[in-house]
Amino acid sequence: MQAVFDRIKESVLKTQVWKSIFRHDYEDSQRNRLLQVLDNIWLHLHPTKLPRHGAYLRFTWCMGGITFLLFLVTAVTGVLLMFYYRPTAEYAFADMKYLQFDVPFGMFLRNMHRWAAHGMVIAVWLHMFRVFLTGSYKPPREFNWVVGVILLTTTLLLSFTGYLLPWDQLSIWAVTVGTNMARATPLLGHEGPFGPELGMKPDNDVRFMLLGGTQVGPPTLLRFYVLHCIFLPLFLAVFIAVHFWRVRKDGGISGPL
Ligand code: HEM
Repeated sequence: MQAVFDRIKESVLKTQVWKSIFRHDYEDSQRNRLLQVLDNIWLHLHPTKLPRHGAYLRFTWCMGGITFLLFLVTAVTGVLLMFYYRPTAEYAFADMKYLQFDVPFGMFLRNMHRWAAHGMVIAVWLHMFRVFLTGSYKPPREFNWVVGVILLTTTLLLSFTGYLLPWDQLSIWAVTVGTNMARATPLLGHEGPFGPELGMKPDNDVRFMLLGGTQVGPPTLLRFYVLHCIFLPLFLAVFIAVHFWRVRKDGGISGPL
């Protein structure tokens, strides 16, 4: 049986189709192992060489990787939730209830999205804390720290915009309070420093732009939905790619101090 299996394997490995996808054989040399990782779209996300300390859990806490994993979970469950949710004042709340009580595994899906999102916020803070503790913001990694700050802000904005979508009292009032802070934006808020001098009023300042009106209403729901489901996730994905690329270009994970 093993012999038959080996013969099939051998003939498959020789086909043009196999060779066009997997360009390297299984020869166990250092160079070949390196090429296998480099030439594969999925594997090349991993480094070809890993410093020993990079694999120590106590050094990275694996928090960057966990943040990324949780982002993937929220993205996949989020797309599934979109099949059941309509971002209008008329349907949003009812759609959430339908999802929770009628859709098979709907409650599970919604909670997976919610808990992964909460987990992502916690993990990104812990990751930043670890990077700070290990001094990994120092040269040559200053730029990646800045990219990290963009990632942190985007993660928090994703969390905030998602909070409005259930369209219940809690979310409407939380977002009312949250967006009131935008009144005090320097230059762009009608109560912020130099805002009134620049002609900012409740109906033309940055808060107005965010809400699509002077208070939280149906246009806000639609704006937050678009931000939450399209703009912010894509923006985050692009900067995560830059972040990972920089980790490689900066020589992999920094060493213990
Ligand atoms: C969506 C958010 C983020 C994701 C998915 C992410 C992911 C990662 C991953 C996978 C690594 C490799 C090492 C590790 O796992 O610890 C890493 C390293 C790094 N991250 Fe992040 N990160 C995020 C946010 C941040 C934030 C908020 C900061 C700081 C403001 C930051 C700064 C850095 C730096 C400087 C490194 C290099 C660390 C070293 O060389 O030891 N990242 N990130």
